[in-house]
Amino acid sequence: MSSLRKLAQMISAIADQLEQHKESCGSDGRTESKEWLQTLPKELGQSRLDLIDAIQDLKTQVQSTESCLEDLLFSYANTTSLHIIYALRLPQYIPVTECASYSSIAESCGVNEAVLRRLFHYAMTNRLFTEPKPGYVAHTPMSRLLLSDSDAFDALGMTLEEMMPASHELLAAINKYPKSVEPNETAYNIAHDTNLPLYQFLAKNPERARRFGAGMKYFTRGDHTDLKHVLEAFPWKDYDRDNVLMVDVGGGHGVVTAKIADATSKIRFIVQDLAQAVEVGRSSLPPILKSRVEFMTHDFFQDQVVKHADIYFFRWIMHNWSDKYCLQILRSLTPAMKPRAKVLLYEHVLPDVPNDKPSQKGGMYLDMVMLGCCNGCVRTEKDWQKLFLDADANFTLEGIRRVPGSSLSLIEATWKE
Ligand SMILES: C[S@@+](CC[C@H](N)C(=O)[O-])C[C@H]1O[C@@H](n2cnc3c(N)ncnc32)[C@H](O)[C@@H]1O
Repeated sequence: MSSLRKLAQMISAIADQLEQHKESCGSDGRTESKEWLQTLPKELGQSRLDLIDAIQDLKTQVQSTESCLEDLLFSYANTTSLHIIYALRLPQYIPVTECASYSSIAESCGVNEAVLRRLFHYAMTNRLFTEPKPGYVAHTPMSRLLLSDSDAFDALGMTLEEMMPASHELLAAINKYPKSVEPNETAYNIAHDTNLPLYQFLAKNPERARRFGAGMKYFTRGDHTDLKHVLEAFPWKDYDRDNVLMVDVGGGHGVVTAKIADATSKIRFIVQDLAQAVEVGRSSLPPILKSRVEFMTHDFFQDQVVKHADIYFFRWIMHNWSDKYCLQILRSLTPAMKPRAKVLLYEHVLPDVPNDKPSQKGGMYLDMVMLGCCNGCVRTEKDWQKLFLDADANFTLEGIRRVPGSSLSLIEATWKE
């Protein structure tokens, strides 16, 4: 690890570069807008990640080991705080640009005012809400996002009420189902008292399924998961010809397809998913895309019904399933595949050796979530190679395309000549 001075110099140098870019975007530091982050050139994108890692390194070096452990131990208070903010709908009691008194919020949401103040004060340590004058609370950019953006609010609900309860049962599940690879022998099953796998359980709970879909949509907007990266991950223009067909398997509400369709003009798309997702996707498809995008109910464990497509695309599907089920999904495609057809998987790819950099933690969070919710996993490069090899010898894994600044990579396989 670097010395304090070296780390501090590195932080200062990168901060200078970012500041210059920020100023060149006309941002004077007085507005909350972070639009300048969206236009970072590639090299600066990597520097920004290096900065995040260096800040964490520096922080760890100037804290005692006991204090580092304490931070970690009490981090549960953050999710508890977020859950209360979600369940009491606290952002809604404060106008977008004005403040509201603690007493008025306490009355509206029926919580003791003294307790409410403490809840808000804790949230403020995470830059959620601020106290512009004694007795009053106002929004910060993060809390305002929860007010103005229903997908962000739903993402909170999905994470805190679907996934977090599962994480609390992870130890129980490891003990109860020590070697299971089944999607219904998980911490999620224990937490939600069901024998159904996650997606079947959600299908029986329409409001929770809607919230899950909206949360998924929100999670495609972070810096690293922004859908703009999928456009760089594959030469879509080379495929933008008449008669080219892409099937977006388990495509949810079709957000990835819509992004690719927007950036091309000829490729046709079929988005397949379970009935409920298809219904939402179909009704929310922008009219301009209707001539090139259709939705179809299809269970990806059954033989693929769309024969001879050029591309079978999957985003965030395989991580939901253990190898046993991923093999079934891939094998259900093979009778439909024509020579040189592509299977594209858009997923996190973990390094073969552990990477403990904070900026790379997203894939590891997801791996924990997948373990708890579905006995799925986030795979390494070697895992992907093995999966295709085991699925069918006629697949060739061409490679893994990484896009700087993106936490997802494109895993590209080609069917035999
Ligand atoms: C993590 S979401 C990913 C959705 C979409 N690919 C995206 O990236 O936005 C997983 C999707 O798999 C779908 N799914 C689960 N089981 C399925 C099955 N047996 N057949 C088809 N789709 C399924 C779910 O409904 C959900 O939309």
